[in-house]
Amino acid sequence: MLSLARRFVTPLYRASFLVAALESGVLRQLADGARDLDDLADGLGIAGDRQLLRAWLDLGVRFGELRFADDRYRLGSRRAKALAEPRNDSVAAALEEVVRFHVPALLTAPAMVRSGARLTMAEQDGSIIARSSRIVQPFLEEAVDRVVPRLGPVRLLEIGCGSGVYVRYAASLNPELTAVAVDYQAEVAAEAAADMARWGLRDRVQVIQADARDLAFADLFDLATMHNDIYYFERHERTALLAHVRSMLKPGGRLLLTTACKGGNLGTEVLGLWFEFADFGGPLPDSAELAQQLMDAGFTDVEVRRLIPGEQFCSFVGRNPTSLPDAEERTS
Ligand SMILES: C[S@@+](CC[C@H](N)C(=O)[O-])C[C@H]1O[C@@H](n2cnc3c(N)ncnc32)[C@H](O)[C@@H]1O
Repeated sequence: MLSLARRFVTPLYRASFLVAALESGVLRQLADGARDLDDLADGLGIAGDRQLLRAWLDLGVRFGELRFADDRYRLGSRRAKALAEPRNDSVAAALEEVVRFHVPALLTAPAMVRSGARLTMAEQDGSIIARSSRIVQPFLEEAVDRVVPRLGPVRLLEIGCGSGVYVRYAASLNPELTAVAVDYQAEVAAEAAADMARWGLRDRVQVIQADARDLAFADLFDLATMHNDIYYFERHERTALLAHVRSMLKPGGRLLLTTACKGGNLGTEVLGLWFEFADFGGPLPDSAELAQQLMDAGFTDVEVRRLIPGEQFCSFVGRNPTSLPDAEERTS
């Protein structure tokens, strides 16, 4: 029993404590220096019984995540110190995602199979996901590097823009690039729009809240991008969605799609389970199947590339043909 506690239970307790400390803002407060109970309670807006907060903080000390000396709490572990740093925000958000969404999916899967209940988009906190998706940012930027022309006007359509960081990156590569960034979740689109303004891109990037399946534009795009969102669509509807995206591209325009695929690390496999149980999405794609779906959607020159060594995290690039296949090809 003791070894079970040490090997399995304590890490679970620590992770849960750290997520609560992150989300409540306690880690950030302590990153600025040691605080006594009253300071921390004031920071959390707690007016009532502060001793309950002490009970929780003291367990954080027992887990080794905090330290307590001279009547003040401070960050204890290297982990807690690292998570409190703003530059590690995507790692902090990934831990939040694991505890808030992955663990409940594992816990409730058998009951959901029995009852037929499914997870909904409302159960996912869009801003945690937008932040945690940035954990793969350096690898995705390499993929964006390969498709954005550096000269001349470029019209980009990004579907499921999340935090909008990849649109910002594309815009940094070409000063004449303009974009439409779309996200289905209203709060995510609102945050992305605010960020575009903060980044000085309000005139170049229009952010809209919409379902990708309903998009229609008067003008066509040179490039479409979809990062970390193909599994928000059911497997059987992906070809139609990709064909719809292709219909919004100019002849010769390209799609860059990046995604975790089946068979990767445990974190992405549990993410895949979450989406299998969602009432709107589907499993992580199999890379060969997704490449075929791109071709079935009419893309040519489909290229698949592994973005993270040793991982099943891939980019898919396809081109909208410049002309229709000739009659012979179409009928054969
Ligand atoms: C995992 S996040 C990825 C965000 C961003 N692309 C990134 O990589 O950081 C997926 C995003 O796709 C958006 N999304 C899901 N279904 C969508 C749909 N049908 N139309 C437009 N956006 C959608 C979600 O709201 C979410 O913000």
